Amino acid sequence: MPSTQFALKEKYRYLNGFNSYHESEAIDGALPIGANSPQKPPYGLYAEKLSGTAFTAPRHENQQSWLYRVLPSSAHAPYEARESATYNTNPENKPHEKIHHIPNQLRWDPFDMNETVDWVHSLHLVAGAGDPTMKTGIGIFIFAAGKDMDPHEAFYSADGDFLVVPQHGVLDIQTELGRLLVRPNEICVIPRGIRYRVMLPSGPVRGYILELYQGHFQLPELGPIGSNCLANARDFQAPVADFDEDTSTTWHVLSKFAGRLFSAKQSHTPFDVVAWHGLYYPYKYDLGRFNTIGSISYDHPDPSIFTVLTAQSDHPGTAVADFVIFPPRWLVAEDTFRPPWYHRNTMSEFMGLIHGQYDAKTGGGFQPAGASLHNVMSAHGPDAATHKKASNAELKPAKVGEGSMAFMFESCLMVGVTEWGLKKCRKVQEDYNAESWEGLEVRFKRPEGSKYGEW
Ligand SMILES: [Fe+2]
Repeated sequence: MPSTQFALKEKYRYLNGFNSYHESEAIDGALPIGANSPQKPPYGLYAEKLSGTAFTAPRHENQQSWLYRVLPSSAHAPYEARESATYNTNPENKPHEKIHHIPNQLRWDPFDMNETVDWVHSLHLVAGAGDPTMKTGIGIFIFAAGKDMDPHEAFYSADGDFLVVPQHGVLDIQTELGRLLVRPNEICVIPRGIRYRVMLPSGPVRGYILELYQGHFQLPELGPIGSNCLANARDFQAPVADFDEDTSTTWHVLSKFAGRLFSAKQSHTPFDVVAWHGLYYPYKYDLGRFNTIGSISYDHPDPSIFTVLTAQSDHPGTAVADFVIFPPRWLVAEDTFRPPWYHRNTMSEFMGLIHGQYDAKTGGGFQPAGASLHNVMSAHGPDAATHKKASNAELKPAKVGEGSMAFMFESCLMVGVTEWGLKKCRKVQEDYNAESWEGLEVRFKRPEGSKYGEW
């Protein structure tokens, strides 16, 4: 079956479809018919609009939702800065921390679990480019948490959309628009501004996040592939409306705003949306459903054929962020060096591994929960052992990546590595380059009798 067999079974219902106009009501009749903002919305609810794009964005980009809730989000005390000495996830706003722009290839050992913190405090910026205050660029995070968020706390990022890639553990996410269960081999996207609370039903969690400061993720164009394949629109799942009634408890709404943490008190739950409709919502996707395309004749195509989601820059075809996966697949190409080729790229490539072994690196240094970064024009490719093996392999049809799922965050931006990513995490493999490529042997043999300059 083209779907993942998860240890923890699904417990929520979803609305299927990517970029589909959805509507959902937890009580029959809670959605107004026709009008978005009637004088008296059903059952005494308040109407609130949530804009994920400018009002006037073109139709194909426009993302807005209407929420019908017990109390509007604006009913809260002023936000106050919190943990200002320690909390900062903005790559360009770190007065006490250097961002390292370096051309070396980098690889990290598996990042540590941290059972002492919740979701909000689990976010470690590893690398990034741009600035959320200018709505440009991306942030790449590692998260590791062991505690549920406080029962009366909710969190949102004003800085960008979170694309969350769990590697270990399960995220049970209560959002304003409904609930999502996200397990390893699934991803979820929580757009800018949507409030949520993360619980950990299977214990500690760890994984990767790409925060997109500009635009939103889209499905890639399919060109000559046609109207299906890669990630199919019907496999993306949005939550159904689900609400709590609580207007007597003190809640804290936490905001990540320009990388800093703020908190506001309110006397009602933010999870009080009884019904909603629109195009701006969180969603999840099972990577096991990806319909992988590859060569059935010769040569290794560009890895763009493995793109799940893309966020384009203002230059079509050039992505601020691509989310690319390397799923289990058959290799059948004839007379072909089948692993990825040696490469230098104007794009930066950050890779992670959810489970298994990535087929281009068999030396054991690229492990689940680890990572690598090949920045703009930093040379990379198969390690010496993989090259030797693949150059001499019998080219029968072969399944690779069985039980494995590697992924890449690819960006047109040169990413800087944070002090935490380069030093404090203590996971950088100092011998990555030597281990991978110093062992490559010279194979060139000048043809008998040829001399330099003879044509
Ligand atoms: Fe590459």
